[in-house]
Amino acid sequence: MRIEVFDTPDALAAGAADLLTVLLNEGATTFGLAGGSTPRAAYRELQSRDVPWDRLTCWFPDERWVPPEDPDANLLMARRSLLDHVPVRFIAPDTTLEDPAVAASVYETALDGEFTDGPGVVLLGMGDDGHTASLFPGTGALTVTRPAYVANWVPQFNTWRLTATVPLLQRASSIVFLVGGGSKANVLRRILVDDEPLPARVVAAGDADVTWLLDRDAAAEL
Ligand code: 6PG
Repeated sequence: MRIEVFDTPDALAAGAADLLTVLLNEGATTFGLAGGSTPRAAYRELQSRDVPWDRLTCWFPDERWVPPEDPDANLLMARRSLLDHVPVRFIAPDTTLEDPAVAASVYETALDGEFTDGPGVVLLGMGDDGHTASLFPGTGALTVTRPAYVANWVPQFNTWRLTATVPLLQRASSIVFLVGGGSKANVLRRILVDDEPLPARVVAAGDADVTWLLDRDAAAEL
């Protein structure tokens, strides 16, 4: 496991684009796109990098249970900051289906056809509670081994989420955690210093090659 700290959010975004460009040129055929807000700047940086987009399929380790055009949709964020600006194929959960469990099952089947021996390069964020993707502490998805992609009720937000499970994420060849901001400093210490088994730490404990990319504020307690 590697940790790299950057002085500013802009340097973090550029550093993430640099690392992802290297990783995506090493033969991966899939690229998992983190949701939330942190990746936005890194996705914009990636637009101009030398990435073999014609060889890649992008997918979503998690999605909110909202319409595709909803401002909260990870798909919309990724389209605006990357996918609509580069010639890449992407597959996203269909959040217009009748219910989240059906959407998760349909999406899992679609992903099955993409992963040869597992996801390739996966970018993940982390919340200040240690969640990653939509694997929130204390939620049901955390203990699911099969299927690989599920609907997860998140009482913290009183909402459904769709998420890859721990075993699926752990099968990635490379996982890059992109974490910025002082609000993440305490939970990063709990995970990287105290080894507390919060969801992001559990996902990082699989076979994947894991790199943590942090800005100085997020790394303040390390
Ligand atoms: C989501 C993400 C989630 C995100 C973290 C960090 O759907 O929100 O997949 O896991 O990465 O919540 O979000 P920020 O980057 O906005 O802090």
